[in-house]
Amino acid sequence: MVVVKVYERLPEEAILIRTNVFMNEQGFENEFDSIDEKAVHLVLFENEMPIGTCRIFKEEDHYTIGRLAVLKRGRGKGYAKRLVTDARNMVKEFGGSKIVIHAQKRLEKMYEHFGFKSFGIEDLDEGVAHVWMTKKV
Ligand SMILES: CC(C)(COP(=O)(O)OP(=O)(O)OC[C@H]1O[C@@H](n2cnc3c(N)ncnc32)[C@H](O)[C@@H]1OP(=O)(O)O)[C@@H](O)C(=O)NCCC(=O)NCCS
Repeated sequence: MVVVKVYERLPEEAILIRTNVFMNEQGFENEFDSIDEKAVHLVLFENEMPIGTCRIFKEEDHYTIGRLAVLKRGRGKGYAKRLVTDARNMVKEFGGSKIVIHAQKRLEKMYEHFGFKSFGIEDLDEGVAHVWMTKKV
């Protein structure tokens, strides 16, 4: 059974998933930041095991969805899609009308598939190419 839970404080499950995926697998060093304190965190559980996560936070005129990560053993089962869909529905509940993401360039096609469009210029985050993308809610 797949369940997505929502947390107002960064839960241990999200810390473990993000450490595993972004730090151990992808080599990022500055994974946790002050945004974690103001963000809402989603964790996807498969049979009560935490498998995926993302966070949502409000900026001036939009909401941002970030830190989307699914453990290797859970990939290819639609869990990222489920997390982005649930996050989008939460933004709608919050009254937001626009979502912005700062996505890894190599995943641009995946986010296009989720309905996002690129804008602005590409940049680097810890040496990794990123692109800004947006979607209306
Ligand atoms: C990227 C990531 C979150 C995808 O998770 P996932 O649960 O395997 O993705 P899903 O199964 O929900 O796939 C959703 C769709 O995106 C596509 N997709 C998944 N990974 C992709 C990739 N690396 N490149 C292109 N498309 C991809 C899938 O084919 C699927 O398409 P479909 O709906 O037509 O079947 C996961 O691979 C991951 O955690 N990677 C490391 C962390 C990362 O890079 N996070 C993103 C930071 S911007």
